[in-house]
This record gives sequence, structure tokens and C-alpha cells, in this order.
Amino acid sequence: MPSDDLTITDNRTGQTYTIPIKDGAIRAIDLRQIKTAEDDFGLLSYDPSFENTASCRSAITFIDGDKGILRYRGYPIEELAEKSSYLEVAYLLVNGELPRKKELEEWTYNVAHHTLVHENIRKFMDGFHHDAHPMGMLLTGIAALSTFYPDAKNVTEPDERRMQIYRTIGKIPTLAAFAYRHRLGMYYVYPDDDLSYAGNFLNMLFKMGEIKYKPNRVIERALDVLFILHADHEQNCSTNAMRSIASSNVDPYSAMAGAIGALSGPLHGGANQAALTMLAQIGSKDKVWDFVKRVKQGEERIMGFGHRVYKNYDPRAKIIRRIAEEVFETTGRNPLIDIAVELEHIALQDDYFVERKLYPNVDFYSGIIYQAIGFSVDMYPVLFAIPRTSGWLAQWDEMMRDSATRIARPRQIYDGEPARPYMPIGKRRSS
Ligand code: COA
Repeated sequence: MPSDDLTITDNRTGQTYTIPIKDGAIRAIDLRQIKTAEDDFGLLSYDPSFENTASCRSAITFIDGDKGILRYRGYPIEELAEKSSYLEVAYLLVNGELPRKKELEEWTYNVAHHTLVHENIRKFMDGFHHDAHPMGMLLTGIAALSTFYPDAKNVTEPDERRMQIYRTIGKIPTLAAFAYRHRLGMYYVYPDDDLSYAGNFLNMLFKMGEIKYKPNRVIERALDVLFILHADHEQNCSTNAMRSIASSNVDPYSAMAGAIGALSGPLHGGANQAALTMLAQIGSKDKVWDFVKRVKQGEERIMGFGHRVYKNYDPRAKIIRRIAEEVFETTGRNPLIDIAVELEHIALQDDYFVERKLYPNVDFYSGIIYQAIGFSVDMYPVLFAIPRTSGWLAQWDEMMRDSATRIARPRQIYDGEPARPYMPIGKRRSS
């Protein structure tokens, strides 16, 4: 008779154990009863990159990597990208449902009324070196907010959490724009509440002498859709960092500084820059064949291709490719798109890529759009961090409401020296 459990026989002892299966998983703690002797610690599972370990239950984002499906709170990413605004999606992620008209108005009002930062933050930004990386400035700015809002440490109080959610989603574009303009040695532009979330961000980045900044509608919408596509992606590296740090009950600004740090790494938020560099190095469409040959010989990788979870076309990449064409009608064509399309075309017909299920991911086309809009490459991870803020906060809030949450504290397999006598300094061997 089939039953929802797992029978394990320990061949060291001959003992058999029955472990329940729920939602396609066993609880790792159930392995601890498997012992070779009374004083044995019990069996551990070893999973250094969490490749096959669920660290939480979550109702926010669903991914089916084999089928190329991504949904926020049950809604397909394609529909959200077509029909929603980023602020609506942020509401959805945090609250679980799409907002009704009045709810959206209130949410928009609350976010817009927390876009300003304390003047001392502005002065603090001035202290950075003229060529400081904007991601480092953003990370530091977010961490500094914890000192401006000491009440944020009351993380078990839902109203306090809500206040920090408004503040963080509101202020992150302001901090990002200040970081951008600091690099250029330009005066800072304050938020304009009349504009949309993306429109105001463009205002704070690009406003010059004009009295009222008017964002280009195509670019404003393209940025808003890119924000939707980057808003959440379940338990990725930076979200895991956010949850892990926040599990100590620290304030969300400190936890988010850690998440931004994780996102800064080239294996996470930096791949779109690598993809752009690769396309520039290929140089022209006629060199693509040669490049693919080198990839197949193991000399190169196609940056922006392949994914740990997606073994099909990343649904976000399809949408980004379409937006790229729309943006180019305004900005002029970025010639790298033709190299990218040719590369994708050749790769998707080649057995090497088909057998390994390698498809374009979110980073393959996004850098081309950012470049066409006029961003320098070191702003790319910042453009990722702004929308991911709503995902990090939704995940944090969900974790704080989950009765199963305890401080994150993995085990290790100790691989070092056994106990040994202390060595006086004169007798020590060189290490
Ligand atoms: N180009 C060429 N070959 C690739 C490849 C790429 N972008 N990505 C993976 N492969 C090949 C590997 O060489 C390996 O081949 P092998 O079985 O002959 O050794 C196979 O596909 C599996 O790759 P692996 O590195 O084990 O997969 P992973 O799940 O650990 O890695 C990535 C996933 C994303 C790190 C990887 O696909 C990659 O490096 N992509 C490029 C960087 C990138 O776009 N990152 C952004 C992710 S959103």
C-alpha cells in the first residue's frame, strides 16, 4: 500500500526508520534519530549550497524551472508585466492580493510620503569618494537608516514592520539616485510625488535645469516592467541572506544591507554586466559562430545563459527581449541586440545547449536596455536592488509571521584537528 512516508534502513546498524513525507519533503530533523550508538549525535544532511534543502515555507513566489513558469502570489509574471505597475506588484508581494483602487491609492500615498531622506543622509553621501561604487553607497545608506529609525528594531510589531516597508520601498530610489549623481559630481534631485515610482526615479537621476522633469513614457514604462520582473525570485542568495540575518530579530535595514551585499556579487546581481561585456567582445554578428565554437570547447561561457533553477526559457528574458525593441524605438538601436539575437538563435539550435537545457536568463537582454537608456554598468546591480526591495521585505514580513521561524543556524561537519595539547610558542611548527 502506498503511504506518505519514507523507510530508511541504516546498513551500519541494520535498523529501519519510518520518516513522514509532507509536501514532497522530509524534515531534516527527523534524520537525527538515526544513530549508531546512544551517544551518537545522529544523522545530518550535508547541503552546502542549499541545492536540495527547503529553508522555509513561502506563499509569495512560485517557480517551475523545467516549464519556465514564474508566478507572484499565483499570478503569471507575463500578465503582471503586461497589466500591472511595479507599485501594484509590490503591494501584491507584501499583502498577498492585488490592491483594489482605494488600497492602491493609499499604498501609493504611503510609499510616496516616505521618499525623502533625512538631510544628514545627504551629507553622509557627500562623504564618499568621488568614484565610490553606487552599490556600496546604496548598501551603506540603507544600513544608516537603522540609526535614523530606532523604532525599526521592534520587529515583532506588525505596525512597525509596515512602517519600515513604506520607508524602505519609498527611500531606496532616492538613495540610488543620490549615489548615481554623487559619482557624476552633480547636485541631488529631491523626489517629485506627482510622478510614478519609475518616473520619479528617472527624475532624480536625470533632471537637469528644467523646472519640471517629464519622463519619457516608453522608458518610464520599460523601467517599471523591469522592476516588476526583478521584484522577487523566491529563495535566491540575497533573499536567503535577508531571511537569515533578520532571523536574529535585527531591524530590517541591517538585514537589507546584508541582502544588498549578497546581490552585489558577480554570480548574482552582476551577470548582466558580464553578458554585456561578452557581447561587446564578440563585436559583430559574423563572429558569433566562432564564439559558440569556443564555448563548446569549454573555453568560454555564454553569460546570461543557463540557470540553476530554469531548465527552460526564463520567462523574464522573453519579456525583456520585447521591451528592448520598444526602448530602441526611442533611444536608437543598441547594436549589441543583433549580436545577442544571433547568439541566442545559434545556441538554441545547437545540441550542446539543447542537451544541457541552456536558455537565455533574465540577464541576457537587460544590460542592453540599461545601456541604451544611458546607465553605466556599475548601476546595473543598483537597478536590480531597487525592485528586489519589495521581495526582500515581503519575505521578511512573511518570516516574522511564521511560527516556525527560529534563528537560522546551520550545522557543520567538523573537518579539523582532533583535540591536542597546547603548543608553547617556541615549539610551534610553521603554518
Ligand atoms: N555557457 C556554456 N555552458 C554552460 C553555461 C553557459 N552559460 N552554463 C552552464 N553550462 C554548461 C556547463 O559547462 C556544464 O556542462 P558540462 O555538464 O559539460 O560540464 C553544464 O552546462 C551544467 O552547468 P553548471 O555550471 O553545472 O550549472 P549550474 O546550475 O551550477 O550553474 C549558472 C548555473 C547560472 C551559474 C551557469 O549556467 C552560468 O555560469 N551561467 C552564466 C552566468 C549567468 O548568466 N548567471 C546569471 C544567472 S541568473
